[in-house]
Amino acid sequence: MTTPHLAEGSFTTRHAANIGDSVTPRQLRVGELVVDTPVVLAPMAGITNAAFRQLCREQGAGLYVCEMITSRGLVERDAKTLDMLQFDPGETTRSVQLYGTDPYYMAEATKILCGEYGVGHVDMNFGCPVPKVTRKGGGAALPWKRDLLGAILSAVVRAAEPYRIPVTCKTRKGIDDDHPTYLDAGRIAEQSGISAIALHGRTAQQAYSGQADWDAIAALADHVDIPVLGNGDIWEAADALRMIKETGAAGVVIGRGCLGRPWLFRDLADAFAGRPTRTLPNLGEVSDMVRRHAELLAGLMGEQRGLTDLRKHMSWYFKGFPVGGDIRGGLGTVSGFADLEDQLRRLDPDAPFPADILGRPRGRQGSPRSKVTLPEGWLDDTCGLDLELAAAEIGVSGG
Ligand SMILES: Cc1cc2nc3c(=O)[nH]c(=O)nc-3n(C[C@H](O)[C@H](O)[C@H](O)COP(=O)(O)O)c2cc1C
Repeated sequence: MTTPHLAEGSFTTRHAANIGDSVTPRQLRVGELVVDTPVVLAPMAGITNAAFRQLCREQGAGLYVCEMITSRGLVERDAKTLDMLQFDPGETTRSVQLYGTDPYYMAEATKILCGEYGVGHVDMNFGCPVPKVTRKGGGAALPWKRDLLGAILSAVVRAAEPYRIPVTCKTRKGIDDDHPTYLDAGRIAEQSGISAIALHGRTAQQAYSGQADWDAIAALADHVDIPVLGNGDIWEAADALRMIKETGAAGVVIGRGCLGRPWLFRDLADAFAGRPTRTLPNLGEVSDMVRRHAELLAGLMGEQRGLTDLRKHMSWYFKGFPVGGDIRGGLGTVSGFADLEDQLRRLDPDAPFPADILGRPRGRQGSPRSKVTLPEGWLDDTCGLDLELAAAEIGVSGG
């Protein structure tokens, strides 16, 4: 069965009177890379595969980062890792986030990405708060070890240099409020030749709870001369404009706000071009987007795997719409195109977008951790060069 391609411009778009002041169109410069709109799709493990990136790209402009891959997995040519390195032919800038704890593996992985996969932007993950990662000194724990951080950043920049590929990194405020790392990380990134740094305004201890601290983004933008990309709690295009205005960030990174709402990238492109609009698809239009997402996932991984992968997106797509429990259940267990069509056909296509969910958080939130799990004695010093952390990469799949 073929599914219809969602025609560009088929969405219900309303002019939003309250979506911010007029904004000068801006670009984002990351090294030699020029991004039309200062908007980056956040790397999200299990989400930002080639299908989702294309879906978002069809809506707007920006830089769309692949879900994170581990440097060691890539260097050792692990089949699952290589499988994640898929790109749509229309993806002009292949952007990949690397996770790693060892300068050697990170540099070797960068050479493979640039030399064999035609990657045009490498990002590094120093923000993952997942206990299985921080327990081994990876993700958000790593910037505490300033010297190790510098060694990894420099090694990756050097590895990418012959290819003239910009390298960025993404981090959090710190381990917890008593152990901030972001200002030092910014300075070290700048000294290491990093082209831009993204800051998620939460600590690892906060995970996804509470509110992102945009003041920290402003402080980092003040502290360094490289572009700072602000991240955390952008739910609408107006939030992005506000973040830029309040923090001086050079661009924004969009994570959970686009889950089940790829059209947010359309609103963002419009907003940054000074055309404030708000896309409010009705239920029929959302269904068409789901069909398109299904088609792209099936193209990437086959019908059965693709539609199984789609299940996790269903509650985000239909959040707030009048969809009964049994249909929601059916959508959440969909296994093929015919099955998907059976469920979508039961929906009222004219049901309007539920305006009350606008501006509200979506995706994971949870509660703060009582304590961030770290390796024994991790906080005792800030060097880290003597550590053997390569094992920290085993079994890591993002967060
Ligand atoms: C499902 C999911 C997976 C994520 N995976 C990654 C990842 O692999 N690498 C990373 O740097 N951040 C990851 N993040 C964090 C996001 O990139 C982003 O920093 C965070 O969600 C805050 O931005 P937001 O408020 O716009 O969602 C993930 C977030 C979610 C919700």
